[in-house]
Amino acid sequence: MNKTIAVIRGDGIGPEIVGEAIGVLDAVADKFGHAFIYQEAPMGGCAIDAFGVPLPESSLHTCLQADSVLLGAVGGPRWDAQPPVNRPERGLLKLREAMGLYTNIRPARMFADLSAACPLRADIAARGIDFVVVRELIGGVYFGSHTTVEENGEQKAEDIMSYAEHEIRRVAHVAFQMARKRRRRVTSVDKANVLDTSRLWRKTVTEVAAAYPDVELLHMYVDNAAMQIVRDPSQFDVIVTENLFGDILSDEASQITGSIGMIPSSSMGEGSRGLYEPIHGSAPDIAGQDRANPIGTVLAAAMMLRYGFDMAAEADTVEAAVDAVLKDGYRCGDIMQSGGRLVGCREMGRLIRERI
Ligand code: IPM
Ligand code: MG
Repeated sequence: MNKTIAVIRGDGIGPEIVGEAIGVLDAVADKFGHAFIYQEAPMGGCAIDAFGVPLPESSLHTCLQADSVLLGAVGGPRWDAQPPVNRPERGLLKLREAMGLYTNIRPARMFADLSAACPLRADIAARGIDFVVVRELIGGVYFGSHTTVEENGEQKAEDIMSYAEHEIRRVAHVAFQMARKRRRRVTSVDKANVLDTSRLWRKTVTEVAAAYPDVELLHMYVDNAAMQIVRDPSQFDVIVTENLFGDILSDEASQITGSIGMIPSSSMGEGSRGLYEPIHGSAPDIAGQDRANPIGTVLAAAMMLRYGFDMAAEADTVEAAVDAVLKDGYRCGDIMQSGGRLVGCREMGRLIRERI
């Protein structure tokens, strides 16, 4: 098969980790007889430097024409002084919206070989961590109006959170369908004791659940969910929640696996064109030092193969290669443990390719 992949290398460690993921995709293409064509789409701080805006029209066009988009990470302290509408993150939000990516899928799974890195108590970790956060991605407070005004001699700021039923319904369907392929349990997270958007969320998710009688639905307030994720993560299978709650809970969920550098994510809309990225940030403190862990991005590329291109065997091959490298004891700095073999970003990429 021929596939066109828009590549957003981004800032900080972005170019290093994306370079290794592309190397892995090339190894897959060789082995399985595919051709992947890469098209660069500058976005983030580097695009602000080169074009004055975080997401140039040409980059957006490249992404909208491609079969899928592979992203490293964007942002960094260098662009903190940019006005809000021109921050690197704005590029990402604009891209999500323009591509219609209303579902963000973030798995929180503990790798058996990395259980020593889990920050939870051993008896809690022993019960296992394997759940998925399904986050609504183009609604809620992220996309409401943001205003700062001068009132009575002081500044006053406002961010509007709003949800329409159809925005809730479509992401709820994704969550229930995903649960059907897993352990058939959906936990819908909201703040229905306080927020109208949450009351609508709860009502709408409950209505959608009627079409999935084989899936169990539980509702949980977000503050309780934040606590339960560290108290007993084994109770979760699929968590579905709105944009801001999902942003926060997915970082928490990744951290308890002990390996934020290992976790991929996919963002999807109606078609097959998705956006695939690691969930970690641009880590400017270690950029350019060959110290980043490329595995999150490599596994994001595997998600692209599986969900974007329907290449299950290819995706399995990549995931097995990562497992094999870990089993052989190779570790990047973020997941290093005693007795491990410390390697840099490039070497980790090479080791994975070698096993493909
Ligand atoms: C994420 C990030 C983004 C978000 C930022 C960079 C805008 O934190 O993908 O979780 O808040 O969605
Ligand atoms: Mg986040």
